[in-house]
Amino acid sequence: MATNREDQKRLAAERAISYVEEGSILGVGTGSTVAYFIDALGARRGLIEAAVSSSEQSTARLKQHGIRVVDLNSVGTLALYVDGADECDAHKRLIKGGGGALTREKIIAAASKTFVCMIDAAKRVDALGKFPLPVEVIPMARGHVAREIVRRGGNPVWRDGFVTDNGNVILDVHGWRIDDPVALEADLNQIVGVVCVGLFARRPADVVLIGDSIMS
Ligand code: A5P
Repeated sequence: MATNREDQKRLAAERAISYVEEGSILGVGTGSTVAYFIDALGARRGLIEAAVSSSEQSTARLKQHGIRVVDLNSVGTLALYVDGADECDAHKRLIKGGGGALTREKIIAAASKTFVCMIDAAKRVDALGKFPLPVEVIPMARGHVAREIVRRGGNPVWRDGFVTDNGNVILDVHGWRIDDPVALEADLNQIVGVVCVGLFARRPADVVLIGDSIMS
């Protein structure tokens, strides 16, 4: 396997293209790995009919390649969602949201039959949590949610100056070794003011591509 992280991301993105059905409407994630994927899509002009995008950033890149972007509400369930991740455990459960697009990413993942995730080998971990867990929060609830997280043993750090595409803020939670991601995702979702948690455990990836290999 390629040793360079950027090469691994690019190879995973190329491989992800093989999951895309001709003429389909495709869910597209956000991030540097997805940027390689969008460029690979662009190089195969006319492969897809349109894309549902998870961020303004991806929308702009898709449009640069002449790919039509449509609203999720107009298309219903998608066959495929392709995205990157910040961490991935052995059960294909993920931490996402390093780029702040976690809410739209989670919505599209939930609305898709298959989620193909592209990572480089450094993101494969035994237990999630070394990467600070992003939590999207309604701005006025920032203090309340932060206190609730501290009560649960996490160390939330406000991503100062960053506003999500939904007009909210992000708390990056440090210091958690996440042994039960499904339970933590459910618990954090209950805190009033939390919009979305960057744990993709209840709906993990279906396929994980690490460079040009498939994670078994
Ligand atoms: C965006 O909010 C994230 O969920 C990205 O999918 C994740 O951060 C991976 O990004 P890179 O591909 O840039 O590492």
